[in-house]
Amino acid sequence: MFAIYLLVVLLLIMFVTIYRESQIKTKRCSVAVNRPQSCRMVIAAGAMLGTGMNKLGPLHSRAIPNNRIHRVFGIENAFTSTDVKYVEQFVGLARRLVNLKPSDWERLSQVTFEALQRWLVGSSSIHLESLIQVLSLRATLLALSKFSDPRLCQVRDTDILDLARAINHTWISSKRGEERPFAENHILQASIQAIFLDRDLRTPKDNPLNLIIPGFETLWRVVLRGYVEIGFLAGRQHPEWRQMLAAFAQGPTREQFLWKHGEDSISCEDLVNEVLRLYPPTRRIHRTYKSDMAAKSIGMAADLEACHRLNEIWGTDAMDYDPRRWRRLEKAQKEAFMPFGSTPFECPARPIFGPRIIGLLIGTLFREICGDWVLKLHGRGFPDPSVPIKRLSNERSALSEAYLSR
Ligand code: HEM
Ligand SMILES: *[C@@H]1O[C@H](CO)[C@@H](O)[C@H](O)[C@H]1NC(C)=O
Repeated sequence: MFAIYLLVVLLLIMFVTIYRESQIKTKRCSVAVNRPQSCRMVIAAGAMLGTGMNKLGPLHSRAIPNNRIHRVFGIENAFTSTDVKYVEQFVGLARRLVNLKPSDWERLSQVTFEALQRWLVGSSSIHLESLIQVLSLRATLLALSKFSDPRLCQVRDTDILDLARAINHTWISSKRGEERPFAENHILQASIQAIFLDRDLRTPKDNPLNLIIPGFETLWRVVLRGYVEIGFLAGRQHPEWRQMLAAFAQGPTREQFLWKHGEDSISCEDLVNEVLRLYPPTRRIHRTYKSDMAAKSIGMAADLEACHRLNEIWGTDAMDYDPRRWRRLEKAQKEAFMPFGSTPFECPARPIFGPRIIGLLIGTLFREICGDWVLKLHGRGFPDPSVPIKRLSNERSALSEAYLSR
């Protein structure tokens, strides 16, 4: 009796704390939290276990909201599986794969640069999103194959483009609710098969998209925003930022990434972190919760984007792209910055691979595309002086009408 009483009181306290702390927004029976501590609790999903708040284990809490990607991409990975052993193995594999040698980085630099040059030859107008998707996908494929598969290093640009398009199409139509199971998505299957000849796509655990989707779907979005922000918005007054990133893309070493340049003493790492802060490609992390009391499950969302923009943590200039803030970060800011998630589900690409590949791809674009190129969005010059904007939209397709021309 006393135990039940205690439980109820604990639950109440729990709810009140979360509520007071995070101005809960309710949307379609899901609850979004936007304060760093609550976000970390939601991501961990099991943290409230002691209070009876979540009957589901953390892996179930994560797999349920990811069920859609399991169905439409035919994948079974850390995001979709509830098998502890398998998830551990998968994360271990990802960790080993993203651990590149210096020579791998050189190779990545060379291969992405050559792919960019091929794309630019003879074109006067370029669909920016396609270009960046293709470079991101090529880099992801190469890195995740550990450069060991000579065929994967020589995949044709058109095959890469087809796969990027098929993923894009599948993603967007599933978000729109037009869901087609993977087994019936012949275009997607064919575009995977064109690159990976010998995979059995009926076996979700053998699907190459298991590793490609987490890398590619995050990478291209943040690279696209970073390129536009540094090339055409905040970076317009700072040509040295583009030069730094271009130099890193050409010689992608640790030293080059961390080197503090100029009187502002800014590094490529600072530039990338500031892009990740304003434009985290994973805007929200979703978990499903189930309590003992109510049979219905509820969706919880950790709003990372909101945490990255809180005035009381980042200051009144929270919405400004200002890499100088990274020279000295307060504890609260460090805690609020989680573009790669947080424990126990932190992304294996967080410490090194993620930030550096983002820097490498943005820098590669600046090696070739500068000066004589202009950016157009919806047919108008960008930025458009008659429509002042402070921040780029972080909606997935917000920049899908952007073209570069010379
Ligand atoms: C090729 C590159 C990448 C690979 C292979 C990869 C792989 C993974 C894996 C396996 C996890 C699950 C970790 C776990 O369960 O412990 C994970 C989580 C995560 N990754 Fe990555 N990742 C990559 C790049 C990125 C990038 C560029 C971002 C963008 C910032 C990102 C954001 C995240 C986030 C937010 C989570 C946490 C998701 C959650 O808790 O539900 N990843 N990643
Ligand atoms: C992705 O799909 C959307 C909707 O079909 C489209 O507007 C956009 O141009 C596509 N992007 C690429 C790079 O194919």
